[in-house]
Amino acid sequence: MIIEPRTRGFICLTSHPVGCEQNVLNQIDYIKSNPVANGPKKVLVIGASTGFGLASRITSAYGSNASTIGVFFEKPPTEGRPASPGWYNSAAFEAQAHKDGLYAKSINGDAFSNEIKAQTLKLIQDDLGKIDMVIYSLASPVRTHPDTGERFKSVLKPIGETFTNNTVDFHTGVVKEISIEPCSGDDIDNTIAVMGGEDWKMWIDLLKSADVLSEDFKTVAYSYIGPSLTEAVYRKGTIGRAKDHLEATAFEITDSLKDINGKGYVSVNKALVTQASSAIPVIPLYISLLYKVMKEEGIHEGCIEQIERLFNERLYAEDLQLDEQGRIRVDDWEMRDDIQAKVLELWKEATTETLPNIGDLDGYKTDFFNLFGFNVDGVDYDKDVNEMVAIPGLQE
Ligand code: NAI
Repeated sequence: MIIEPRTRGFICLTSHPVGCEQNVLNQIDYIKSNPVANGPKKVLVIGASTGFGLASRITSAYGSNASTIGVFFEKPPTEGRPASPGWYNSAAFEAQAHKDGLYAKSINGDAFSNEIKAQTLKLIQDDLGKIDMVIYSLASPVRTHPDTGERFKSVLKPIGETFTNNTVDFHTGVVKEISIEPCSGDDIDNTIAVMGGEDWKMWIDLLKSADVLSEDFKTVAYSYIGPSLTEAVYRKGTIGRAKDHLEATAFEITDSLKDINGKGYVSVNKALVTQASSAIPVIPLYISLLYKVMKEEGIHEGCIEQIERLFNERLYAEDLQLDEQGRIRVDDWEMRDDIQAKVLELWKEATTETLPNIGDLDGYKTDFFNLFGFNVDGVDYDKDVNEMVAIPGLQE
């Protein structure tokens, strides 16, 4: 079939297998030229199919020849209906990894559930024995608690006061003011239940109790801080509370792994266009200005560059520097004073008319469509493609 993008708001309903494949191959090439000395060897990536999780899987596999198990929640294709992009990404990654003699298997299902955890554990026991790294990179709007069955929904809202600021509709380029009402009721607790650290700890507790974590094991989850501009809706909003919880959980995990000298870390990453971040109001305008400034300075990075730097210059470097809260920082270039000062200046000038010049709206849009395999250089979108692509190492 010929597949074209069909968007609804910040969602694209279709995705292109060949474009997704090309994105994965580009990331593989990047890591092949930037290998990771002393990197991990047996890795579980939870949330492995898109964004930072996919980049982590590729960096592990191609940076240090690691065997990888990926867990994700993606929609398979049906005749005439393309799969979700993470499906095609995982299919492309595993096909290439197998060609290159790398172990790569996947589990598609709800990572929050006891069933998927048990299935993953069994696969580790059967195939890998012990693992030395778990990347936790889930981004989800909902979670059903595996023990109580309660279903939690996360919200992206400020706490206490209405937040008013500008945002951009990146499809039309229209900059306009939006107001977001403060959270109410159980919104904070529910957001913590979905995006906080409870599920990460459940995974590590299970794997530890089954004795499948090797000596010096590491686990990393991803967080975000961002500038004062987005603070009310992000870091000081409901999602920020969940990130506080996730960050506190890293210390609990480290405590629970003392006997194997294991470590739980949170890495604070840079703002990037992913399916998760396009859903957050105000962030698209911030990212389009940030991209412009960082590209001009020659310090722009995508997910793969971020994770390569995380592995090479932080996690597997001789001397791991942490911030005063004990976090790894690879948002250091985004948060540089000169970068933030420029973004703030541009923010004041940003209107529908000025944005095409002062911001990188085109870069934002390209990245957004790239997530779904569209607008990828070198792909012929007029060509018929087979939507029924299988993931070679998928476990049933
Ligand atoms: P993403 O939307 O690209 O990836 C989410 C992954 O989680 C996908 O593999 C998806 O299949 C998987 N997933 C979602 N629900 C699942 C479930 N119930 N069971 C199994 N898998 C499930 O998201 P992104 O942006 O890569 O986010 C990953 C982490 O990085 C999040 O914690 C996010 O807060 C953090 N982060 C994101 C930043 C950004 O600007 N995008 C910046 C800094 C941190």
